Amino acid sequence: MILTENDIYHGDLILVNKDHMYRREGETPFERAGNELLSQRAASALKALLKATDSEEDIIVVSGFRSYQEQRDLWESSLSENGREFTEQYVARPLHSEHQTGLAVDVGLNVEEIDFIRPYFPDEGKCRAFRLNAAKFGFILRYPAEKEHITHISHEPWHFRYVGVPHAEIMEQNGFTLEEYTVFLKAYSNTPLILGDFAVSYLKGERFPLEIPDGFSVSGNNADGFVLSRRTV
Ligand code: DAL
Ligand code: ZN
Repeated sequence: MILTENDIYHGDLILVNKDHMYRREGETPFERAGNELLSQRAASALKALLKATDSEEDIIVVSGFRSYQEQRDLWESSLSENGREFTEQYVARPLHSEHQTGLAVDVGLNVEEIDFIRPYFPDEGKCRAFRLNAAKFGFILRYPAEKEHITHISHEPWHFRYVGVPHAEIMEQNGFTLEEYTVFLKAYSNTPLILGDFAVSYLKGERFPLEIPDGFSVSGNNADGFVLSRRTV
């Protein structure tokens, strides 16, 4: 596989937040999940997670992929309806929302009135089972409580982000947000991090084109380089 600089902004591990905008709209192949679209791998993993937790009837996909225009409309309508403080807590600015990548999904308990910005997702029953099993299927709870100073978004129990395997489990075991995991991996540029059957390493994005040997999964980090992972057995 040959990587160019553009590939830094593409892949399951891209960090999209207040400081890192999304640059590659329109490039991800989508698949339907409920009434929403998600990147293909995220959609398949979500369906498997819902099935494994027997929650296909109880948990609905409230929001998946949003175009730039949709995120801008949401940001603006929330500003006028809910005010700036609420909006900055719960809605990312256009170009800075993970929903534009197709890798983020808001899920909600299937109740009569669905709140689009803050779906009801209690930490009990099927919703709790979904959260506890999410990492096995490659999803992380993206905006945990107590990490607001890092994510700059309030606790969102309904918003899950697909990062893939083994990353979601590494992040969960260490209590890392995606911001923290992105920094953490930079220590593994010479010697990979070995975890179970996987080796994970960081590759700085310089001297393009970069040639990657067969057998590696690669994602850009949307900042300055790549995350490489491969099975060791
Ligand atoms: N609710 C998240 C932060 C978003 O709008 O992307
Ligand atoms: Zn969301």
